[in-house]
Amino acid sequence: MSAPTDDALPHRFHDKVALVTGAASGIGRATAARLVAEGASVWCADINAAGVTETAAALAADGGDVRASRVDVTDPADCAAVVAQVVDEFGGLDVLANIAGIGGMAHFAEETPERFLRMFQVNALGPFNLSQAALPHLLERKGNILNLASTAGLIGQSYVAAYVASKHALVGLTRAMAIELGRKGIRINAVCPGGVNTAIMNDFVPPEGASMSLVSRSFLVREMQEPESVAAMIAYVCSDEAYYVNGAILSIDGGTTAG
Ligand code: NAI
Repeated sequence: MSAPTDDALPHRFHDKVALVTGAASGIGRATAARLVAEGASVWCADINAAGVTETAAALAADGGDVRASRVDVTDPADCAAVVAQVVDEFGGLDVLANIAGIGGMAHFAEETPERFLRMFQVNALGPFNLSQAALPHLLERKGNILNLASTAGLIGQSYVAAYVASKHALVGLTRAMAIELGRKGIRINAVCPGGVNTAIMNDFVPPEGASMSLVSRSFLVREMQEPESVAAMIAYVCSDEAYYVNGAILSIDGGTTAG
């Protein structure tokens, strides 16, 4: 893995600082790489310490201004600490990309309260924790927050009730924050991908006895997209080019949620 080197890439994040969660792999890693390639100083955060260190090392080897640390987004103290570190070392914060997440499938009747709660803790409470910690710094620099939701934040899907509920919660959080804070000059948006070729897909194995016709309704396109495809959309939304994009819930799913 390395940062895109295409000279034709815009350089929209010169002098900007970004904190990217979920940066040990998949979309978070691709987003960190894209923001570095566009000139940002990037702090890579993830619960997977080895993975996030590897991401940062690869990007730093390409000349990026990158740091990394282990952060559990479900822990408010961890979130406050990493934001303080970012501001301390990089001098401020312009972009918070809440990308860390977990998934899982089960028959609704067999879903457990523990798994349901865990899904909310990582996918919804995590972005809340970091957004609250980052808010004063984002207000100071007129920055923005990007929440990585999902097609599961837009429509119902089978055998993923807990995941769908947690991603709908994240979409709701995005809208509520955008309305409350938009007039103060910061933007909060969500990107909703479908079918991205990453490790999380290993957790989306239909449970025994699942109806495949119900499962296939969630996928319009057979081939998956690569994480770089989503990172490119995130980079636009987080850049100043998107100055009028606030409270937007943007799908990137090959048309799955179109109707
Ligand atoms: P991934 O599994 O490669 O990345 C998820 C990352 O989140 C991992 O590095 C993991 O260690 C980290 N993480 C999990 N719990 C954490 C915690 N408590 N604190 C900090 N980090 C934690 O999968 P992917 O696809 O890159 O996932 C990124 C986001 O994209 C997730 O929010 C996921 O729900 C979302 N998404 C993924 C889609 C896909 O098809 N791959 C489609 C739609 C949304």
